[in-house]
Amino acid sequence: MAVRLGDIAPDFQAETSEGKIKFHEWLGSSWGVLFSHPADFTPVCTTELGAVAKLRAEFDKRNVKVVALSVDGLESHKNWISDINETQHTHVNFPIIADPAFEVANLYDMVHPNASDKFTVRSVFVIGADKKVKLTITYPASTGRNFDEILRVIDSLQLTAGYSVATPANWKQGEDVIITMAVKDEDIAAKFPKGSTRIKPYLRTTPQPNL
Ligand code: BEZ
Repeated sequence: MAVRLGDIAPDFQAETSEGKIKFHEWLGSSWGVLFSHPADFTPVCTTELGAVAKLRAEFDKRNVKVVALSVDGLESHKNWISDINETQHTHVNFPIIADPAFEVANLYDMVHPNASDKFTVRSVFVIGADKKVKLTITYPASTGRNFDEILRVIDSLQLTAGYSVATPANWKQGEDVIITMAVKDEDIAAKFPKGSTRIKPYLRTTPQPNL
């Protein structure tokens, strides 16, 4: 069954390139990103895992642990990591789950049989510190993901978890945000001391409150 927003991320145990993990225990109080790729030793996947390794400091800053997955085995992952490090000029600094029996892949509905019944698609799950699924995205095998976009969404999720705001299209850190409809006009000044703009009764903006 599909994993949906608001669900508790299914827990599992798995072998990874950094040892055995129990997923929830491994996450601890951190946020998490679990992402699948179709196969080891493939070009797009090689660039993706290299890109994620280079963003490690950005994930750390946001208290996010990252873990990758494919249905290849552990030896394959370990050998492939050398290639990623060499060709992407980085050092893979997060675990890659070995899932040859498709246990985690099936738990998270990462195999889309009409695309391929042999590989996982490019799924992304962002999981909050409460273990609930906050974001799911699915890309096809032919399209490498934009991991800056994943960080952007995490910024939005972490901001909107703490304030009565939402983020507009293409929002980035530092830009104005939208005051949610639940906030009454008369309460805005007290809740948002940086000021606000009333463009329409349903469209009110304020400077990003957590900066
Ligand atoms: C790739 O990573 O390049 C890839 C993997 C599976 C199918 C197509 C492309």
